[in-house]
Amino acid sequence: MQHNETELRNAYERDGYLVLERFRSKADCATLRERMTQIIRTAANDHATSIFEADPKNHTCDDYFLGSGDKIHFFFEKDAFDASGNLRINREKEMLLNKAGHALHALDPIFKAFSHHASQVALVHALGLKNPQLLQSMYIFKQPGIGGEVPPHQDATFLYTEPSTVMGLWFALEDAGKDNGCLWAIPGGHKEPLKSKYVHKQTGAMAFETYDATPWDVSRMLPLEVPEGSLVVLNGLLPHMSYANRSDKTRHAYSIHLIDGQAHYPESNWLKRSHTCVNFI
Ligand code: FE2
Repeated sequence: MQHNETELRNAYERDGYLVLERFRSKADCATLRERMTQIIRTAANDHATSIFEADPKNHTCDDYFLGSGDKIHFFFEKDAFDASGNLRINREKEMLLNKAGHALHALDPIFKAFSHHASQVALVHALGLKNPQLLQSMYIFKQPGIGGEVPPHQDATFLYTEPSTVMGLWFALEDAGKDNGCLWAIPGGHKEPLKSKYVHKQTGAMAFETYDATPWDVSRMLPLEVPEGSLVVLNGLLPHMSYANRSDKTRHAYSIHLIDGQAHYPESNWLKRSHTCVNFI
């Protein structure tokens, strides 16, 4: 790795995140963007049957979402539709998508190769994961004009282990700035406890268990503006968010989440471990 591993680990432990500018090449980013376009067009009759809402008050929990852990499913932006469910905007379908997930890293060879890049494997080991397991992947579109806000949250709300080991690797496939909805995070906020968990109840229903209903102090969030190819590593307990994209530019990103296989992964997680939960090597 180019960076000093001790310095990286110290910064990650202090801040709860790392920003590694231009970690991947522009060519690698273009390959992933083009591949996603191909996947969408190939699956033209088989996608976007659900809207994705990140807000916990209305978080998507339909069967299409819950069945996406070991598949490549597509989710629309909420603002693509009016109150009657009709399309509000005359655009290609691929310009109305919110995200695709959650097993690109296992099912598609190009996403698999990008995800398992040797530099990333070395990095997550350097940051302390002993037996890294790659659980999920998402392609996030953050469309011009309609790319919705993702409210402040901790990723460990949605993927939790005991103790908490979740780590997100978020790749900017395009420049991400305040205008098109870059990430924001609270430096050091990962030292605060987990505020809620998204749990699969024994009844079969999904629900949020809330331990602390105090809202995050958004004034402590710093923007993480990064150029294309940059990698942002996020501790699963780090509070972060992104605002809506009201610009005329896309803000594509690819994100993968890992856990340490040495930690306990409760059955109540929405994402069931399957053949698409793979060793990160
Ligand atoms: Fe997140």
